[in-house]
Amino acid sequence: MSARLIDGHALAARLRAEIGERAARLAEQGHRPGLAVVLVGEDPASAVYVRNKVRACQEHGLHSVLEKYDATLSEAALLARIEALNADPDVHGILVQMPLPRHIDAHKVIAAIATHKDVDGFSVQSAGELASGLPGLRPCTPYGCMKLIESTGVPLRGRHAVVVGRSNTVGKPMALLLLQANATVTICHSATPDLGHFTRDADVVVAAVGRRNVVTADMVKRGAVIIDVGMNRNDEGKLCGDVDFAAVREALGPEGWLTPVPGGVGPMTVTMLLENTVQAALAQTADRR
Ligand code: GUN
Repeated sequence: MSARLIDGHALAARLRAEIGERAARLAEQGHRPGLAVVLVGEDPASAVYVRNKVRACQEHGLHSVLEKYDATLSEAALLARIEALNADPDVHGILVQMPLPRHIDAHKVIAAIATHKDVDGFSVQSAGELASGLPGLRPCTPYGCMKLIESTGVPLRGRHAVVVGRSNTVGKPMALLLLQANATVTICHSATPDLGHFTRDADVVVAAVGRRNVVTADMVKRGAVIIDVGMNRNDEGKLCGDVDFAAVREALGPEGWLTPVPGGVGPMTVTMLLENTVQAALAQTADRR
């Protein structure tokens, strides 16, 4: 018997229905939640991501603004646009799609976004709030991973969670969210000499490296929960994660849980962006409702 799959599409659909209801209630009160998405340049993958984000807003009753700029846009001009969006009362969330062209300093751009509109949760202020245990907007992918883990019913308190990867966008905030949920957290990365030593002891593994087969069947404990954030291509060009899916699913046994790729973490990231936009709208309009 192999591990149960955590269905990201089904969970995303449930959460999105509820987000849509909250957005509709806010709209009735004259505060339709609004997201501004800023895309600079012609990166084809970014264009797809941005389209999906705008479409998700439209499908769930959120207002969305897509601002597309040529790759030659100056840093000063982008910063001026962000200032305008910060001041726009119809925009509750601002997302600047990464990567930006090389002549633009992404740190400076992220820092320019008002913290209460930072729906990506990428700013130093947002990261500091998370690290300090203060309320604030959480980065969408790790926030979605937490919802996937919660959906299994496996409690995190006192459990050993291993995060593989230490990026600012996934690994580090993931570890902090797990810590906030009272897990005992280990962060492993490219300089960890024996990854399996840690993952074999883990009740929960979040793999966020961006390389195939980082987690193999000999590296997991029976009954563990494995969340695969990876988005890679196999030799046949098919989408795959960081986890050796079929073999790990067997090794986990019937008590274990595993997210598929695609259909696990992917659908949750945009869902949590909608969630953050509604949360931002609620916070920004609290005194006017
Ligand atoms: N590029 C790839 N993923 C993301 C994301 O989640 N947010 C932003 N702003 N850019 C990205």
